[in-house]
Amino acid sequence: MAPQHLLVKSSPIIAKPFVKWVGGKRRVLPDLLLSLPTTFDHYYEPFVGGGALFFHLRSLNLLDDHKITLSDINLRLIRTYRAIRDDVDGVIERLEHHKKNHCRDYFYGVRDVKVDAYQNDADVAAWFIYLNKTAFNGLYRVNKKNRFNAPMGKYKNPAICDAANLRNCHTVLQTVELLHTPFDKAPIDAKKDDLVYFDPPYVPVSATSSFTSYTNEGFGYEEQERLRDVAWMLRRKGVNVMLSNSDHDLVHDLYQDFDVRQIKVGRAINCKAGSRGKVGEVIVT
Ligand SMILES: C[S@@+](CC[C@H](N)C(=O)[O-])C[C@H]1O[C@@H](n2cnc3c(N)ncnc32)[C@H](O)[C@@H]1O
Repeated sequence: MAPQHLLVKSSPIIAKPFVKWVGGKRRVLPDLLLSLPTTFDHYYEPFVGGGALFFHLRSLNLLDDHKITLSDINLRLIRTYRAIRDDVDGVIERLEHHKKNHCRDYFYGVRDVKVDAYQNDADVAAWFIYLNKTAFNGLYRVNKKNRFNAPMGKYKNPAICDAANLRNCHTVLQTVELLHTPFDKAPIDAKKDDLVYFDPPYVPVSATSSFTSYTNEGFGYEEQERLRDVAWMLRRKGVNVMLSNSDHDLVHDLYQDFDVRQIKVGRAINCKAGSRGKVGEVIVT
């Protein structure tokens, strides 16, 4: 018989991530479920990105009656979550407008808008989702000035507005606290028996010992160490901690005092289809 916490309760709402996100956790959800504690109180996800685990747990009714805090350093992403929670009709209306007008010139016009000047979160959300669905590889990519710079993708019929899924996301986000904050601040008040799932930018699989002086998207070795310290501090308080990272010696060194489980993930590690392979990841608890 399946463990109690893996049994599905009645009438789940199936909401899927509304954006494709680098490092999305869809492929490793079964492994993450196996590492979850049997019970927990407040659920925190401080690197939420596309939120694959959050939406999955919601669809299994495993977060019913739980306090939930999702956060990320990406303000546009958090404004998008807030708009879906608070004004999903506004988001859908704007996305339908983008969908109607979608063409090459329109894409580049939207891409170059000064999105942070928008007062209304629904405008930010429609900008964010439209570009995510139509840009090359579905990538969210910005330059040093935080300007979106991925080119348009070659999709025949991009799913710009999945209204049904957005409405389901709206429903499951209703009681969720959404914070724009760095990972070390978000779970600061976590208490014994809460659960914090950390899914940071990974130590690159190609990292050599020089990684200790190299920054990967603003997340270098210092941040990896800081994250380990935060995980350690939480664990000492009796908080359940679960963390994903690459299966790299540096990660094993950082988490010597934790339980580190290796998993294999089928993931594209190279643009060429022939070079796709299994990449090692770990789940730390
Ligand atoms: C690997 S992704 C998370 C993927 C996510 N679990 C999913 O399923 O899509 C890492 C996330 O960490 C965020 N991030 C990077 N540095 C951060 C920091 N210092 N504090 C909080 N979030 C950060 C990024 O914006 C990104 O959304």
